[in-house]
Amino acid sequence: MKTNSADASTTSFLARDGILSSPWQTSAVIQAQRGGREDRVETKVWDVLIAGGGITGLTTALLLQEAGIACVVAEAHHLGFGTTGGTTSHINTMLDTPYSTIESDFGAEGAELVGSAARAGRDLIARNVSTYQIACDFEYKDGILFAQTEEEVAQLDKIYEASQRAGVAVERVATIPLPLPFMQAIKYTEQAQIHPLSYLYALADAFVKQGGVILEKTRVEDTVHKDGIHHVQTSAGVVRAQQLVYATHIPPGLNILHLRCAPYRSYVLGVQLSSSNYPSELAYDMQQPYHYFRSHHINGKPYLIVGGADHKTGHGDPHAAFQDLEVYTRKHFHVSSIDYRWSAQYFEPADGLPYIGKLPGGDENTYVATGFSGNGILMGSFSGLLLADLILGRESPYEKLFSPQRIKPIAGFANFVKENADVAYRFVADRVATERLEALVELAPDTGAVVNYDSKQIAVYKSAAGAVIALSPVCTHAGCIVTWNDAEKSWDCPCHGGRYDTNGRVLTGPPRKDLAIVPLT
Ligand code: FES
Repeated sequence: MKTNSADASTTSFLARDGILSSPWQTSAVIQAQRGGREDRVETKVWDVLIAGGGITGLTTALLLQEAGIACVVAEAHHLGFGTTGGTTSHINTMLDTPYSTIESDFGAEGAELVGSAARAGRDLIARNVSTYQIACDFEYKDGILFAQTEEEVAQLDKIYEASQRAGVAVERVATIPLPLPFMQAIKYTEQAQIHPLSYLYALADAFVKQGGVILEKTRVEDTVHKDGIHHVQTSAGVVRAQQLVYATHIPPGLNILHLRCAPYRSYVLGVQLSSSNYPSELAYDMQQPYHYFRSHHINGKPYLIVGGADHKTGHGDPHAAFQDLEVYTRKHFHVSSIDYRWSAQYFEPADGLPYIGKLPGGDENTYVATGFSGNGILMGSFSGLLLADLILGRESPYEKLFSPQRIKPIAGFANFVKENADVAYRFVADRVATERLEALVELAPDTGAVVNYDSKQIAVYKSAAGAVIALSPVCTHAGCIVTWNDAEKSWDCPCHGGRYDTNGRVLTGPPRKDLAIVPLT
């Protein structure tokens, strides 16, 4: 088996799952060379194979390796290619799902446990930064939540009281760090922020130094569980392991979690201001979808990072989302330049809490962590703690609350699996005449569209140089029709968030297979 690890360097430009760049890609401190000892990968049975080299995978891997468990991480692209490379890394124990909602759905005890889980995730990040001396701009910040209407004030009061009952440190404040109108505000103390890729690569470095192995450009394609061992077919060979963790943002294959987690895209701007009035704290309004703010020095310059305009993946207009966000930002801030524009994906769980634990319907000793809402760095870190406890056979007070097994089988799921396993709408890739297709589509350069051609749908992309790439628009996960994302130049699936590049290659799971290429004459 060959691995494909990046070379050692201090900074690097790292690709991610879209054409737009986050600032982290251009400014990550990469601590050391990864990979190594590739000759051992196929010859031994590993204790744990972790699919996915983002915050969840690397946090889990490092905790297990520290405990003497032999781990291998398989990442389909490279570390941080997915959402960890596009997050805004707000580490906020206040969470996207308000404590008032958590309390009413999971009880007072549940809300307290969630508050304690959030603190544990934050403290683990602080501990790693200190233990491994990680240069990732880690800073404690306060987090401000503010209401701008009477209705929001009533909501804010409920959140404030429920947060206090849950033991989360919160207080009322009279000011906010933004030039925005507001009526009431509350402050959560000891929130934090980091440079996510610098942190991630330092975790990888620590993991490898302790004997862990990272396989990049290694996609998990299939698994067979036999005689207590996972035989995992990857794009680079078979890896065997006692336990398997899907830290892939959402598990691959057909799983009930795909009906319980909805994919969303969020939009972000990296803005230089014409004043030095950058927010000193993390801040959030209460609109739907909400805006989120913080500042960060990137390559030596201060930036306001403002996000929002979220919509379901494959359902909204990415250009309109960026435009709305820009109009909003220019209205409230003195913008000197907008240097970064990017979007990222997250999964919203049906009941507001992440799913962390045994994979529902999965083989024995198979684990998953997903549904982090907009709290990916925090909950990905907490997931590492919980998954490590479960794998090490340690009791955890969080096991039941976050268990994916809390999902009850639902009417119709068997049909979902059956229908989608058959993929009723199969695509037959007959040859297609390029001239006819081009005439039909009339695409501007560097755009794509799904078009009807002889009563079948085809996903067509025309490159900036005028070359046409025709693909089956049938998502290889469960047969939905992809849509064109003109901002990130990708094909996005509106059903469970699968995404593909302009050549049809998988960018984001759950699909494992690329879109079929339609041969052109
Ligand atoms: Fe499930 Fe496309 S991601 S059908």
